[in-house]
Order: sequence, then structure tokens, then C-alpha cells
Amino acid sequence: MKKNLCWLLVGASLLVSGCASEPGDIFACAKVTWIGFRKVADERAERFQGKVQEDTARCRGSDEAVKLRSLPWVDWQNYWATGDSATKGPESFWRFKHLNPNGRGIDGALLDIEYQRIELLKFNLFDNGGTYKDYLLGRAGIDGVALKVWNEMRLPKGRAQYQAVGGDGTQLCQGELIRFRTLSGICNDLRNPLMGSSGQLFARNVQFEATFPDLGKNELARNRHGDRLGLLKPDPQVISRKLFTRGQTAPDKCRDGHGMPGYSADAECEYKRAPFFNVLAAFWIQFMTHDWFSHLEEGRNSSQMTSVGCAAQLINGVEKPLTPDEIAKLGCRPADKIDKSFIAEDSDPQTFGHKGKTYLTRSYKTTRNTVTAWWDASQLYGYDETSRRRVKRDPKDSAKLLLVPVSQRAGNGERLGYLPLFESSDPINPQWAGQEATAFPDNWTIGTSFYHNVFAREHNLFVDEFRRRAAAKPDEDSGLRNLARPDAVIRLKDVSADELFEVARLVVSAEIAKIHTIEWTPQLLYDEPLYLGMNSNWHGLFRGHPLVEAAMEKIVVNNFGESTDAKKAGQWYSVFVVGPGIFGLGNKVYKDDAIIAKYDPKKTDIWSLKNPDHVNGGINHFGSPFNFPEEFVTVYRLHPLVPDLVEYREWDKDPNVIRNKIPVVETFRGRATEAMRQQGLANWALSMGRQRLGLLTLQNHPRFLQNLELPRLRTATGKIDVAALDIIRDRERGVPRFNEFRRQYGLKQLTSFDDFVDRRPAVDPKERAEQERLIKILREVYGQHKCDASKVITAAQVNDDRTPITDCLGHPNGSMVDNIEDVDTVVGWLAEFHRPHGFAISETQFQVFILNASRRLYSDRFFTSSFRPEFYTHLGVEWVTNNGPTGVVKENGRPNGHEVEVSPLKQVLLRTIPELKPELDHIVNAFDPWARDRSEYYSLEWKARKGAESDVAFKGQNGRAKTP
Ligand code: HEM
Repeated sequence: MKKNLCWLLVGASLLVSGCASEPGDIFACAKVTWIGFRKVADERAERFQGKVQEDTARCRGSDEAVKLRSLPWVDWQNYWATGDSATKGPESFWRFKHLNPNGRGIDGALLDIEYQRIELLKFNLFDNGGTYKDYLLGRAGIDGVALKVWNEMRLPKGRAQYQAVGGDGTQLCQGELIRFRTLSGICNDLRNPLMGSSGQLFARNVQFEATFPDLGKNELARNRHGDRLGLLKPDPQVISRKLFTRGQTAPDKCRDGHGMPGYSADAECEYKRAPFFNVLAAFWIQFMTHDWFSHLEEGRNSSQMTSVGCAAQLINGVEKPLTPDEIAKLGCRPADKIDKSFIAEDSDPQTFGHKGKTYLTRSYKTTRNTVTAWWDASQLYGYDETSRRRVKRDPKDSAKLLLVPVSQRAGNGERLGYLPLFESSDPINPQWAGQEATAFPDNWTIGTSFYHNVFAREHNLFVDEFRRRAAAKPDEDSGLRNLARPDAVIRLKDVSADELFEVARLVVSAEIAKIHTIEWTPQLLYDEPLYLGMNSNWHGLFRGHPLVEAAMEKIVVNNFGESTDAKKAGQWYSVFVVGPGIFGLGNKVYKDDAIIAKYDPKKTDIWSLKNPDHVNGGINHFGSPFNFPEEFVTVYRLHPLVPDLVEYREWDKDPNVIRNKIPVVETFRGRATEAMRQQGLANWALSMGRQRLGLLTLQNHPRFLQNLELPRLRTATGKIDVAALDIIRDRERGVPRFNEFRRQYGLKQLTSFDDFVDRRPAVDPKERAEQERLIKILREVYGQHKCDASKVITAAQVNDDRTPITDCLGHPNGSMVDNIEDVDTVVGWLAEFHRPHGFAISETQFQVFILNASRRLYSDRFFTSSFRPEFYTHLGVEWVTNNGPTGVVKENGRPNGHEVEVSPLKQVLLRTIPELKPELDHIVNAFDPWARDRSEYYSLEWKARKGAESDVAFKGQNGRAKTP
């Protein structure tokens, strides 16, 4: 064990050392190597914050990286080769790539991100469900971080499966309950049946004391915000109209997102576009969030209604009621009302003492996640009895989902059919009538309709292939096993329709998780460190180096996974898991030494279905039961991604022509279904695949979402401003405001609104002027105040000189400071103009993902130790591993310098919409605009690929189309 560690440390120190092109860089690298690794922080206030020492910055990015250290943003983005080809360093004579400037830059970035992940796991897990005290104090001699079982995660009396899991005694899921993903999500973790199931409390990633700043429950919150905050303070509709509205030079061509009559292609709703990310990516993430979390029950909130602002604004720092003229100018609606968010508990939380400090046992209020937190495709298959009744199975083969023919359109995919519509007997909200039948039908548009149909087809294609193999070799072992007779082979012909349905669900869920991890995210974060990082989450860093991979896996599972020591169970587990990757972790068990055994043909894998420690053995919750935190929802409020108009194209005519501009709002609810059936999956795929999505930035929300009709509310206006609602919901659920949010997550605070402006030398002066214009509005909306240096405002961090952070944020006492502490978190991350190369999201959002994206893999046994044929069948394992039934298929060339497999979503699209093959042949990542030339190393250029030169989208900024 010690030997292994030494070996790894030596290897890792090489990553940051070596020969550099400049003598100064060489010296800096030598110093860094000599000093060695930074210590993982013992105290919250000492954490890393993404800022490195001068020598480290110089070694990894030369002078430029050193200069930019003074900014509040993380340093790794300034290292060599972390951007496009212009950021690559000088050639070097070293053959070992990790010693070259580019290698040092990329490895350095990965190390920084790993430090952040370790410290996030250490300082940012706050379970609301009653386990936090144990987490902090430990239990029965076991460090809190190493705890694996919690009473709070027992199935309560009254649940149907109570006796089956052990009732009053030790609870352990077994039998039918552990074979597949259960409807309500129970029994993913055998020893914590309730974890991740529907209706569990959202967790937090911030100290409980930092939640609900509006309530002013503690002195720090009062010092931080004075009396400036409230549910409607500052006014959410004013924030929306001033800071979120997309400006239009020709409003009559946009008409608040309704476009022009006849869906004319002359319509234009201008929006700021991301050149490297398409509209399919926007709807993908909405499709994902519907799987992961929801605060609503059956599309509704509580029965109480509340106003949503459009009442007051700050004028020179003083709140003044809006006049009718001002209301008309802003375009907001004082009569809008919304149903209040559900709150699970709002009594005062209990407290406990530890090392002289008092801690809360939960946040001041809590809320529930009404769907399963698992990545289990619950939006397709259901998360409770009601939603399951909406899922229609094919009466001819109940292993399949029901898909029906809808047209005589050309295209081979058409024969695969479309989801059927809801029937009047289905348990639905009246507003969902006319939509395709599926488990999660809320906020349905063409985008959600698209993915639900695609994955329903994929489900059925898996079943078809299984049935084909079963017909060809009926007696062959399917791989599947039944806990009742664990040693009995289940032949292909013996797999029941119900079993096959559940296997297909497992496969589709894993495919979705894979697409998200190695296809969507690397395009969202389009640079080399994140390409490597995301691939290492899935496959491991040492793919293709089996011996190293096996060594790492052994260290992770055998040593750290089973440890009762906090450091091993948490920090080291996280670092070393990068080696083998999280997916499939612990799904093989060898008697002796894993390193040799894995490659010794005489040794056998002794993983056994009968052994709960094998079935459950690959998971790690880091001492805190898994659920998403409230803060995770906040950073997924990605409404600006959505364009107002879809640039509609047709695959069997010239795909370079935009034929119509179809308003997304005209595809809301049942009209999405009509639009899907009229135009077909292939045309929608092509249209959304080629169109760029909206940048996540200020003044870029869809106009239609600010004016969305929600008749269910039965209010005077019948409308709601979803952008304003994003602000209100976060306030109702007590998300800390932006600056404290950053401090809590271990990022540097900002000290004025001007810090948002991107000061890097390469920024176009026009772009900088636009940022400065927006910052002025930010200051106008949130205001300033005279600061008081005697008021300490946070317990999460201290100043560089170890003094407490005060209301003055380093400015002189009594001076006027920006109310940066009051900025709503969504507003803050949208205002982050300074971002790492190729980042469609801000670094603040990314920080939340580093923690939670890994955790939802770490905690799920179906992605780790239960990724096995006993659950997935042999075909299922093959399908997930190779992105389908055809074996490994490699992409031509070496995109961004890597040999890559044909991506998982591209494979899904090729199967489910085969008529798109000629278009898909050109793409490497299905979320990169389909006609864009990816060009060189992580280029963000908006340039047509060969064959798409006539595509109007490449003409001018917005690609105005001529009527065909
Ligand atoms: C294009 C059509 C969309 C429509 C019509 C829509 C509509 C809505 C509405 C009405 C709500 C408020 C629910 C409430 O709190 O009462 C909401 C919440 C939300 N939306 Fe969207 N949205 C759309 C797209 C997206 C996209 C692309 C994302 C990207 C991830 C997204 C993420 C969210 C999130 C995270 C919430 C909070 C959910 C919760 O509180 O549990 N939405 N959306």
C-alpha cells in the first residue's frame, strides 16, 4: 500500500515539474517540486479557493498566469493549453508530454480541480435528513465521513416493503427489491433503503446557518445584508426586466417570442448565442433535470398564492414604488401571482455543540425532492404510482413502450413510431391533455417531446435486439440472475417481458448518464482539462493502461472504500478514483491481489450476487446520504439557453435552408405533440442540432418565458415571468446570495460589481463596454451602502491576512460599497463574464457540478458494483459499454488530438433516426452545432464545415434567413 502511494506521488510530482522553455519557468517548476503538494485544508476557512502560489502559476502558465492571479477567478484557466491553440506553449524537447509546458498546464488544471473536489467533499455536504450530527461527530468510533449506514435512511413503518427489508430489525434490501431500479427509487443502496427515493428532503451544500439569509436568523446574516432583503426585495420582476430581457432591434419581428405569421423565416428574436453548443444541448439539460429533481407535485406548488413583484425599484439607493409609466416601460405585471413553494419543515431546527461551537441540525426550512434523485430515467419510466400509470407499454410486447405510427413520412426512423397521447382516463393535470404519454409531462415543449420519443425508440430497439438474439440462440445464458435462485442460469428465452422492460430501463438510464458525462459535459466545458476530467470520471484516466488502472481500483475499493478513517474514506478515495473511473467501480472482486488477478487468466472474479457487500461494494456516499442539494437546483436554472424561435429545417430537402422560424412557445404542452407529429423527429433533430443555443449571460432570457401563460394559476393576468420566478423560488428555499454562495463553495468572493468585468487582455473592447453597461444596471438594481468594518459577515472564509471578512470587503470603513452581498445567485453567475475557455457555464456553477456530478455516480450501485450482467444482462453491459450492439466503433481522425469512439448520443440518433446518417456523419459530438467546422484544438470559431457553406446561419451574427 505504502509502495503504491509513493509510486503515485513520484509520478504526480513529475506532473508539475520538469524542463521549461523559459529559465524563470524552470526555476519555478523546480521550486514547486521541492515544496511538494499543498496540504488539504483542515479548516473551512483555509481551503484552496482555486488560487495558486506564484511559482506554481509560472510553472504551469508562465507570466500570463502569474499576472491574472490577482483576479478573483480560478487560476487553472490561465495555464498552458487550457484554451484553444493560441494557449499552447512553446515546443519542448521532452518526449514525456507531462513535462512540456502544455502537459504541465493541463495536469496542473486537473490537479487544481481535484483539490477542489476533495475539499468540496470535505466541507460541503450537509444532509437535512437528521444525519448531520453524526457526520460531524462520528458514531461508535467511526469518523463521520466514513459512515455508511444511517437510521434515517431506514424504510419507515407503513411502507409496503417494510417487512421485506427487515422491518424493525437490521434493514437490508434483498430479493426482487434489488434486481432492478425500483419505481420509487428505494433499495439502490441495500443498507439504506430510503436513500434517493421520491419525497426525500433536498440536502444543502452550504452551512445550514448560511441558508435563508432573508430571515436574518443570525448575526452574520444580519451584518451581511442589513434589512435589504425580502422575498420581493429587490423586486424580482424589476430584476427580470432590467437584467434578463433580451434586447430586440426589431421587436415587431419577434413579438415577445411569437415570431411572425405563418412561422415566416423573416421573423427574428435576437439572442446572444454560444458558438459551440446547440439547442439539442439546451433541451437535453431540461430533460435531465426532470429526472433528477422537482419541487412540484403533479405540476403544482402549494395552495397559497403570493405576489411576484413589479412594485418597486431602487432610485439612488432608495426604494420607490413604480409609477404606471415605469411599469409600462419595463413591461412587468403587478397583478401576476404564483402558487407558493411547498415547505416540508419550518420549525426552528435543533442545535448541538461541538468543540465549543453550536451547530444547526438542518437548515431553517426544508423542501422535498418529489422525484427520485437517482439517474434512473424516472422522467420516462416513473417515480411513483401515479407517474407510472402514465407510462404506456406495448400490449403486443409488454417489454416495450407503446409507440404508434403517426404519418406516412419518408425516413426509416418513422416506422419506429411515436409516443401515444394521454387518454382521458390517465392521471394527469388538465393542462397536459393532448400531450404524449410519459411519466414527467410538465413544461412540455418540442425539446422534451424530442428526447422522450428518442429514448422510447431506443428502449424498444434494445428490446428488439434482445428478442433477435433470443430467437437466434434461445438457450444461451442471458447473464441475468434472480435472487430467489442466484445460481440458476436464466436463458435468453426465459427472460420475462417484465424483466426485459426493467433491463431496458437500466440500459437506457446508464446510456443517458454516459451521454451526459462524456458527451454533453465536455461540450458544455469545451477544453482539454475538462475533456480529460469527464472521461476520467467515467472510464478513468488510465484507460488503455490496464495494469495501472487495476492498481488504482484496488487502492480505491479495498483500502479507501472500506476505511473507517476520515481521510482515507473521503479525500484519498476521491483522488485515486480518477484512475479507474467511477463507472463500474467494484463490479469485479478478486480473491487475492487485484492487480495481478485481473490479468491472470487462472484467477476468477468472485463477485457474488449472494454477497450484499459485493452488490453494494462500489458505492461511496462520503458520510452523507445522497440527495441533491437545493443549491444544485439554483445552478440549473438555465432558461437563457432556450431560443425564442427554432430555425426549422428539413432533412430531405436542402438542410442548409432555414424554412421557418417556429416559436418555442407555439410548441408549449399539447402543441409540442402536434408539432412533433407534423414535422417529425428527423426535422426537429436537424433544426435543433444545427442551431446555437443561448449564452448563459445577462439580458438573454427568452421573451416568451417572461410572458408565459399558465392558466392553471387562475390569476388576473394568467401569466408568469419565469425569469422572475427563478429568483423568487431561490429566495423561498433559502439559497444564500451570490457572494456568500461562492465563499461557501470555496471560491474567492467579489468585492464590487466591477469584479464581474472580464479584464483579460484578449477581450474585445466592444464586448468589455457591453459588460460595463450591464454592470451599471446591476448597480442600479441592487444599489450601494455605507459600509461598517466592525460587522463580520461570514464564517466560511477569512481575508488573506487571516482577519475576518467584514461588511466593507476590504474597502475603507464608512465608504460606499456595492451591495454585492445581496445579488441573487442566479443573477451573479449570469454576470460572470470571465470564464474558462469553452465554458458555457460560469465557474461558480461549475464548482457545484464538480461535487454533485461525481456524487450521483459514486452513490449509485447500478453505475458501480451492480453494473453487471446479473442486472443488465450480457447484452445490456455490451450496449452501455460500446454505445450499442455493434461493438466499439471509432470516429475518423483524432478530434482535438484524441482517438475517440463514435459518441453515445450520435449512436442513439443513428439508431432511432437513421435517416439522419448523412448529416450525422459529419459530427463528433452531438451537442456541437452540426454544421460547425470544429477546426483545430478547441476552437470556438463559428465557421461552416465543408458542405454547409451556404447555411444562412453562418451569414452575419444571427444568420438571418431568406424566405425559401
Ligand atoms: C423551454 C421551455 C421551458 C419552460 C416552459 C420552463 C418552465 C418552467 C417553469 C414554469 C418553472 C417554474 C416552476 C415553479 O417553480 O413553479 C421552471 C422551473 C425550472 N426550470 Fe424551466 N422551463 C423551460 C426550460 C428549461 C430549461 C432548458 C432548463 C434547463 C435546465 C430549465 C430548468 C428549470 C429548473 C431547474 C427549474 C426549477 C425546478 C424546481 O424548482 O424543481 N427549464 N421552468
